[in-house]
Amino acid sequence: MTDRYAVIGNPIEQSKSPLIHTAFAQVTGQDIDYTKVLAPLGGFAQAVDAFRAAGGRGMNVTAPFKLDAFAYATNLAPSAQMAGAVNAMKFDGDKVYAENFDGLGLVRDVVHNLDCPLQGRRVLILGAGGATRGALLPLLAQSPAEVVIVNRTVAKAQELAGLARQHQMGQVPVHGMGYADVAGAFDVVLNATSASLTSELPPLPMTVFAPDCLAYDLTYGKGLTPFLKLARQAGVTRLADGVGMLAEQAAEAFNWWRGVRPETAAVIEQITVPLI
Ligand code: ATR
Repeated sequence: MTDRYAVIGNPIEQSKSPLIHTAFAQVTGQDIDYTKVLAPLGGFAQAVDAFRAAGGRGMNVTAPFKLDAFAYATNLAPSAQMAGAVNAMKFDGDKVYAENFDGLGLVRDVVHNLDCPLQGRRVLILGAGGATRGALLPLLAQSPAEVVIVNRTVAKAQELAGLARQHQMGQVPVHGMGYADVAGAFDVVLNATSASLTSELPPLPMTVFAPDCLAYDLTYGKGLTPFLKLARQAGVTRLADGVGMLAEQAAEAFNWWRGVRPETAAVIEQITVPLI
């Protein structure tokens, strides 16, 4: 029997998840049907209830419903708890298991696809919103030398750094600060702000980019964002956007649902927008 999955959001037309999961199903020989669900604002729970009642087995969750999914879940994984948001659900009777694979997807893309080990590296992450919250624990699990969170609203960076220190018992130094206080050069600079969505540039000094640094924008499909342009002006040659993160978080969800982890290379190639 064909098992049903979907991505839920508003808007949802732009979502690449059906393309990605359908490709994964083909290469792994899994019999699934993966569709898009457009839920009205304020209508998340009803839409998910209806999908479950029709036999749906699991869902990906995209904007603006990641917090609604957090509230809807009955069983939150630590990744979802730390992120304060859910991007994948699995249904089993009355139970709604919930995960957030964004951070794991990011780390897998950086370390595995881009061949950039994080162990012993200085990592700078821009932004202190949901994307950073989701990325922190998987990043810290790689044992970087240091993680600095920089944010426009300084208190949010400091609060998140404190939370991260508590969660990993202080093994990796984590600091939160404003853009004016960032000092030194970093091996990996991750843009987890939403600035690229509106073609804005966080007030980042060019000196943060170490020679041979990786500059990574978590948004995808926007070509060379202002952040990536700044990195290129600073002499950085290793530039990436979040297309690999998108494919890798999808692969994690697929594995969680189906028990088989698909290869992502072909999908990444298919949906990549050149960085020009
Ligand atoms: P998301 O879930 O995508 O992380 P969010 O929780 O709204 O979205 O967080 C957006 C982040 O991008 C915030 O850290 C925000 O900074 P503030 O906390 O100071 O608002 C950051 N951000 C958005 N636009 C920005 C800009 N133009 N320059 C710098 N930071 C920006």
